[in-house]
Amino acid sequence: MMKLLLINGPNLQLLGRREPEIYGSETLPDIVRKLRCEAQEFGFELEDFQSNTEGEIVSRIGETLGDPEIAGIIINPAAYTHTSVAIRDALAAAAKPALEVHLSNIHVREEFRHRSLTAPVCLGCIIGLGSYGYSLALRGLVHHLQTSDSAVARTADTV
Ligand code: DQA
Repeated sequence: MMKLLLINGPNLQLLGRREPEIYGSETLPDIVRKLRCEAQEFGFELEDFQSNTEGEIVSRIGETLGDPEIAGIIINPAAYTHTSVAIRDALAAAAKPALEVHLSNIHVREEFRHRSLTAPVCLGCIIGLGSYGYSLALRGLVHHLQTSDSAVARTADTV
């Protein structure tokens, strides 16, 4: 079964307790559980990875380069969105279709959150819809994989 990789960056392990008025009351395990079921409904396995460390995120993205089972990436780089050239370069190097998610609308918050270094190397971004954004990203990624000239689309054609 082809896999989708969900990557969450720093402090997202605190979801549910962290500034719930901004990030909502759902925990990360709640979100991952729901997303895993949704991925299965579309015929994909969800692999999830959370780290507070930039280098670990860079390494995990880099590993996908040699892993043909990973069809695409859903990523919330959290604070690294606004600072990390390394994560941007890793996403570009991996060359897997990626969708960026932000729970909050980063454009109505502090100015330093308005810029995303990682968005330009992603297919698109879903911003400001809370945890529902992850579900929309999953749907968007699956749609992209099934309609583009990707390995998944080609595999589907031949079975
Ligand atoms: C976030 C927005 C970032 O600015 C922030 O640093 C986060 C979470 C979001 O999901 O809204 O940690 O990525």
